[in-house]
Amino acid sequence: MELKVYKDYTDLSRHAADEIFALVKNKPDAVVCLASGDSPRLTCQLLVERAINEKVNLSQFTFIGLDELVGIPPENEGSCRFFFESLVVKPLHLLPGQVYFFNALSENPARDCEAMDKVIVEKGGIDLIIVGIGMNGHIGFNEPGVSFDNYSHVIDLDESTITVGQKYFKGPVKLKQGITLGLKHFMESKKAIVMANGRKKAEVIRRALNEKINNQFPATIIQKHTQGVVMIDEEAASLLEKETN
Ligand code: F6R
Repeated sequence: MELKVYKDYTDLSRHAADEIFALVKNKPDAVVCLASGDSPRLTCQLLVERAINEKVNLSQFTFIGLDELVGIPPENEGSCRFFFESLVVKPLHLLPGQVYFFNALSENPARDCEAMDKVIVEKGGIDLIIVGIGMNGHIGFNEPGVSFDNYSHVIDLDESTITVGQKYFKGPVKLKQGITLGLKHFMESKKAIVMANGRKKAEVIRRALNEKINNQFPATIIQKHTQGVVMIDEEAASLLEKETN
């Protein structure tokens, strides 16, 4: 695992967007999985800007949405789907056959999980996964206590995720469960990036990098990803003893 510290959120986002861009240039049929949320928001915007300016051919590219909030319809701007559609899929004109999302309204989420796992295998695995990190150390919706051996699954959301998750919505919303790729997917991805910015994430980053790997703080798993990169800004790095770049 490598640690990279950038000056601020913009610098961090630019480098994260460069990672995706370089991958897709070198491997046009790359499979990329992204989290939604505040951490990768600017990365998505910068990626789209660059892909459009440089007229990159994305026709073979596959995009996978990391997770979804069960019961939140795609037209709700707090849903992960809304984030992915508005920030990535629509501006890049990606076609239905090249984008894969969990269905928040599915009547059979277990079957959807199997279908997602199958897609990932058929595509040859995930080349690059970029995740944020929750205030409770979650990655995707792999909440504290999750098994490290899971592929896609439905999970009860932690109280912290339910509370913090309100920030994505215009008004209070009832959140209960998430549907998410598992930590097995994360670990099997050819490259894994954890992104975090801001002082509010400093303690979370300190724990993720310094605690023994444990499923009560799932992000600690990044420590053993051989192609793992923790990309953070200076504020998020402020509780680490030594910064590298
Ligand atoms: C969302 C997701 C979550 C977020 C995490 C951090 O798709 O997978 O794990 O990445 O909660 O959220 P932000 O980036 O909003 O701080």
